[in-house]
Amino acid sequence: MTLLCHINDIDDDSSKGFNLGEDSLFAVKKGGSVFIYRNKCPHLGVELNWLEHQFLDSEQALIHCTTHGALFLIEDGACVAGPCLGKSLEAVSFDLIDGQIHLR
Ligand code: FES
Repeated sequence: MTLLCHINDIDDDSSKGFNLGEDSLFAVKKGGSVFIYRNKCPHLGVELNWLEHQFLDSEQALIHCTTHGALFLIEDGACVAGPCLGKSLEAVSFDLIDGQIHLR
C-alpha cells in the first residue's frame, strides 16, 4: 500500500493532483468523501488538467477534461458529456486508515 495523503489535506469540493513515479492520479473530495482516479481521459488518454490540482468544472460539480471539455461524475467517474460519453475514468482503490489515504 502507498500512503497518498491525509484526508484533511484535500479541501471539500476541491481536487488535488498527485504524481507517483509514472502514475498521475487525482483525488476529489465531496461531502466529506474522497474519490480517486487515474489522470487519464478515456477520450485520448491524455491528462485531464492544464492547471495544477484543477480537475473540476467552475461549479465544482463535475470532473472536467480541459482538452475537449468532457465532463465526468465525481462519484463514479462516468462521462456524462463530451466525446467519451458512456466511458469512465479509471477509479483507484484505496483504504482510509486513521484519516490517511492508502492506495491499494
Ligand atoms: S482528451 Fe479529454 S475530452 Fe478529449
